[in-house]
Amino acid sequence: MAPDLKPHLAENARRIETALADILTAATASGEIARPARLLDAMRYGSLNGGKRLRPVLLLEAAALFGRADSGVLHAACALELIHCYSLIHDDLPAMDDDDLRRGRPTVHKAFDEATAILAGDALLTLAFDVIAEDKVHTDPAVRLRLSRELSRAAGVGGMAGGQMLDLESEHRPRSEAEIRLLQSMKTGALLRYACRAGALLADAPESDVDRLTRFGEVIGLAFQLADDLLDVEACPEVMGKATGKDAEAGKATLVGLWGVDRTRSELDRLLNEARDLLASYGDRSATLTALAEFIVNRSN
Ligand code: IPE
Ligand code: IPE
Ligand code: MG
Ligand code: MG
Ligand code: MG
Repeated sequence: MAPDLKPHLAENARRIETALADILTAATASGEIARPARLLDAMRYGSLNGGKRLRPVLLLEAAALFGRADSGVLHAACALELIHCYSLIHDDLPAMDDDDLRRGRPTVHKAFDEATAILAGDALLTLAFDVIAEDKVHTDPAVRLRLSRELSRAAGVGGMAGGQMLDLESEHRPRSEAEIRLLQSMKTGALLRYACRAGALLADAPESDVDRLTRFGEVIGLAFQLADDLLDVEACPEVMGKATGKDAEAGKATLVGLWGVDRTRSELDRLLNEARDLLASYGDRSATLTALAEFIVNRSN
């Protein structure tokens, strides 16, 4: 990554962290009755804990590419990260992947208890739709509605949650490449795709650019999950901040399992080139987004 991009990305991740902390305060919003301390603590524990903030940073950069960078975009980025954090809390539950470590700390159900972890996930998911509906996200209510509906579709039965279902069903069952691709495009791809697409929509980019950014999101979404599965095979838990070697142990169907490490690496190279090509027409303006695609492919945690 170009050296001057690192502080820029770190600064954006810091902005996300601060904005999330502002959203997750003890003060009730109008219409809320009370925010029970234990539930709020679990929500904060599961969200304000040094994630890479890839999805919200992608959203910010996609919006910036088309000239929008204000607190409304930051708000939309936070809504997406709240959904991601909820998905991780539930993904780690004993009934799902049964993991004890996340982002280098005990998982929410370990630090609190299972019921609290379930509720923290529920409340983060619900809060996300409150946040994306805020006036400052976009002056045009029709755009806010579109962003909200698309977020629901990326996160729900036809997106992330549906993909998690297919993922669990894939344990100890042979799956074809097409089946695994479908699973991954939903489980991980949908939110990354949304990040890039929503950024363009927030900035009122022309539809052809929205389509291009959507395709970019799909390409890096697949690259992201290939890298995650590769790291599950090759990295150590200390660096990852979460357990590794779990996919093979659980008999999870992954493309790495199907293809092996070498073919996965060459596919990652191919996807990175495709991602670069998609942004080529934007020239230097897309340097940060390209750097993010490179980071996703070459990341070590
Ligand atoms: C991990 O996502 C879960 C998957 C979708 C594979 P990230 O690697 O983006 O996790 P954080 O947010 O940085 O912890
Ligand atoms: C989780 O995928 C994807 C979602 C949370 C939607 P994984 O189960 O592979 O994620 P990690 O490896 O636990 O982070
Ligand atoms: Mg999982
Ligand atoms: Mg998991
Ligand atoms: Mg994984």
